[in-house]
Amino acid sequence: MADILGFGGYVPERIVTNFDWEQRLDTTDEWIIQRTGIKRRRYAADDETTLTLAANAASAALDDAALGPDDVDEIIVATDTPEMMTPDTAALVQHELGCREVPTYDLGGSGCAGFVQALDVARARIAVDPKKILVIGVELISRMISQDDRATAILFGDGAGAMVLGPDGGKATVLDVVSGTDGRYAGILTLGAGGTRQPFNEASLISGDYNRLIMDGRRVFTEAVRRMSEAAITVIERIGKLTEDVALVIPHQANIRIIDAVRKKLGLAEDQVYVNVDEYGNTGSATVPFATAEAVSNSRITEGDLVILTAFGAGFHWGAAAVQF
Ligand code: ACO
Repeated sequence: MADILGFGGYVPERIVTNFDWEQRLDTTDEWIIQRTGIKRRRYAADDETTLTLAANAASAALDDAALGPDDVDEIIVATDTPEMMTPDTAALVQHELGCREVPTYDLGGSGCAGFVQALDVARARIAVDPKKILVIGVELISRMISQDDRATAILFGDGAGAMVLGPDGGKATVLDVVSGTDGRYAGILTLGAGGTRQPFNEASLISGDYNRLIMDGRRVFTEAVRRMSEAAITVIERIGKLTEDVALVIPHQANIRIIDAVRKKLGLAEDQVYVNVDEYGNTGSATVPFATAEAVSNSRITEGDLVILTAFGAGFHWGAAAVQF
């Protein structure tokens, strides 16, 4: 087990509404709300990068934990939209925050499940060495995927969330985490260009592949509902509890219809599931830590609450965590 000592989140100031998209693409506010529940999302300013977002969320989490950069013993950054190909964003966060020469690494490519996977890694690291680990989920997706593809562009927003984990003395305890992967489904959500199979080059630039997110929306939908609800049920069973004992589920914020379907599968009421996809869209690996920080700060979570975090992402990856406040 590991404790969560602090929560933090950050979103950029710039708001992009569905009406802004109506001006750019063949889409409507009505279509976007009906199919996704998204009303607006935040986009990074030109002078902001993944590092800016990550460092802001991390600083907020450290403040919340009443800790400073010197107290951090390790940093994990979950992101699919890193600051650069190499080195990792986590190394840059370490320097930006002024932390000691502690180990850092990115957990990249896990899509929106990256933060829950990182939480799993962090608690395992703490079990063998009682240290304080900064875990960040961050995406600056708006700069990485095509802004001309209506099927994907309207879904996403930029943002970051962070937690500081430690062996004890926190505001909440991570009781258990489950996670899994089915690599057969790698192709249903993929941005292939830029790797060794299809290097970023003139051909990918001309074809438009360099920023084309390929998504089989319906299969992603089906797998997302199945995997998030199964993972949530498994982790609830593993801690010896029932869904009735759960105060709040914080699912990955991809789409209100996916969230609603998961809620129904778990037999929960609307007020037992946290939703902010309408305000921020899908911020990838940032949705779960950002929403958790928001739920703590607006008192949707109070002491004694059992909270389930559950996520899915490209890979196909999934995971769920049981957190006792
Ligand atoms: N505006 C208007 N029309 C659009 C838009 C848009 N922004 N995007 C697609 N369409 C059109 C398509 O061209 C297609 O038109 P056609 O029927 O003439 O070919 C039609 O809408 C598609 O309609 P449906 O397939 O019925 O749309 P659906 O109800 O499946 O909704 C959606 C599409 C929202 C993508 C849905 O499948 C979905 O939510 N899937 C999950 C996707 C998701 O959450 N991805 C997350 C990505 S990353 C992550 O979180 C891990």
